[in-house]
Amino acid sequence: MKAKFITLDGIDGAGKSTNLNTIRLWFEQHQLPVLFTREPGGTAVGEALRQILLDPHTEVNARTETLLMFAARQQHLDSVIKPALAAGTHVVSDRFTDATFAYQGGGRDIPLSDIAVLENWVQQGLHPDLTLLLDIPLTVAQQRLAQNEHPDRFEQLDNDFFERTRQTYLNRAASAPERYRVIQSDQPLTDVAAQISHSLSQLFGYHS
Ligand code: TMP
Repeated sequence: MKAKFITLDGIDGAGKSTNLNTIRLWFEQHQLPVLFTREPGGTAVGEALRQILLDPHTEVNARTETLLMFAARQQHLDSVIKPALAAGTHVVSDRFTDATFAYQGGGRDIPLSDIAVLENWVQQGLHPDLTLLLDIPLTVAQQRLAQNEHPDRFEQLDNDFFERTRQTYLNRAASAPERYRVIQSDQPLTDVAAQISHSLSQLFGYHS
């Protein structure tokens, strides 16, 4: 079986961490080789760029931010994601290029067509097999984020930013329904977990 590339995405406060555990459990239960990684990050240079990108005291303009996301992604693809897939290990990335379209495109107003150019240049046709998009009403996400005493450079952005970000995620999902599963993450945890497991089982051709 060709190794699968799966990504998990959504606005800050959508509950990625909790749901990553569901994905881990699913892979454990099915005894499939898998690598968990994240963006920005996943490599030494990527994690260093992440520090810069998330630091609330560092000024980064929107185009620089976009380029740094793709710089981190290039290293991540070349030294982690592609080698793992080539070795038959499935890869689950906590965020990927959908986040650049949503945050830098929708949120920061970088033209989506410019992001698509960078996407093609960096990814050379490689795309996730499945993207689990966690969707949540803004008010619920903001309540969760409000509990964080040390918000990062993104978490401190306003409602309008996240509304645009959320809408861009949803637009992308609607335009390629075969690749995305949109999961309402403000439902009871067991319901969310069941939908995630079902999506994974479908992708791998298991009956769930
Ligand atoms: P997280 O790992 O806690 O979700 O933090 C990563 C932050 O970086 C999050 O606020 C989303 C943001 N981000 C972008 O703006 N663009 C991107 O391409 C990626 C991967 C993340």
